[in-house]
Amino acid sequence: MGVAILTTGKALPALKVENQKLTELVETDSQWIIERTGIESRHIATSETGLSLAVAAAEEALGDMDKASIGLVLVATVSPDMLVPSMGALVKRTMGLENAVAYDINAACSGFIYGLWNAEALMKTHDIKRALVIGVERLSRITNWEDRGTCILFGDGAGCAVLELSDDKPGILSSFIKNYDDVSNSLTVDMQYLQTPFADDGPKEPYIHMNGTQVFRFAVGAIGEAMDAVLRNAGVRADEVKYYVPHQANMRIIQSAAQRMKQPLEKFQVNIQTTGNVSAASIPMALADLMKSGKIQSGDKVMLVGFGGGLTAGAILFEAV
Ligand code: UT7
Repeated sequence: MGVAILTTGKALPALKVENQKLTELVETDSQWIIERTGIESRHIATSETGLSLAVAAAEEALGDMDKASIGLVLVATVSPDMLVPSMGALVKRTMGLENAVAYDINAACSGFIYGLWNAEALMKTHDIKRALVIGVERLSRITNWEDRGTCILFGDGAGCAVLELSDDKPGILSSFIKNYDDVSNSLTVDMQYLQTPFADDGPKEPYIHMNGTQVFRFAVGAIGEAMDAVLRNAGVRADEVKYYVPHQANMRIIQSAAQRMKQPLEKFQVNIQTTGNVSAASIPMALADLMKSGKIQSGDKVMLVGFGGGLTAGAILFEAV
């Protein structure tokens, strides 16, 4: 019995913000951003909510499939519209997914990989026919727009995959997730709560704090470990993988992943130029682009690989239907 990735969808906010626009906010220049990250523009939500983006991506992935067949909705996000209800519960209600259990997962930028890992296990053990795994972010709401070290990196968007439990399709061949203790707090987002009459928690800064160099070093090692692990577990060689879909955080990290695997960069799906880093949404959005491109045939092997705050990392190797 396998869990196949059937279809995908994605949604981006209408507003496209070019690098040049950011030079009005912080001391930076477009050429620096392109050379150090590969990012040229990103989409930023104005009228869109996380929910509207998640639902748009899920509707595209579902097409005319029967909504009653969805038994599970997992939403990976670090920027939910609300804490309660969860984004999963909101998606379920908005889309009328009457038979689904729904909740959220926070594994930062590895969230979509963690979502697939959870969904595969739950579908097999609980006989769930179909599941939606969504990655959605409105990182613009947790970005410090005065910090040039982070505000140039992030964007908003959503991506979704429909999974199906199958007797004859192998689907996911191998999966790997791992947590690493972030002992130096290299990537954090604090929570802003109301002050209670009983404790003095001090002021909090509810936006992304990052030591870019530390995260960069972690990323290069962790994605190498994750990619090696899924290949080894499945008994598949790197050259047998038709396409790699990496987390879109930095073009230089993607290049190092290609070098590590001794594979041409052309085998790596890249959309960071126009999306920036969209955390949990970045892998499913890039996967949706790959699926739409027509470059994937039934039976092709595809690897998803990501890393993120926590610290977290993981990879999924699957066979396309
Ligand atoms: O999704 C997971 C989370 N994040 C990541 O994966 C991010 C991983 N890290 C990175 O992508 C890179 O570390 C960054 C793109 C964030 C930074 O690139 P870097 O090559 O590591 O630059 P740096 O932080 O070492 O800074 C180099 C210089 C510094 O100036 P000095 O000290 O050499 O004079 C910075 O102040 O570049 C300066 N700088 C900038 N200059 C223009 C930093 N940010 C900017 C900026 N524009 N936006």
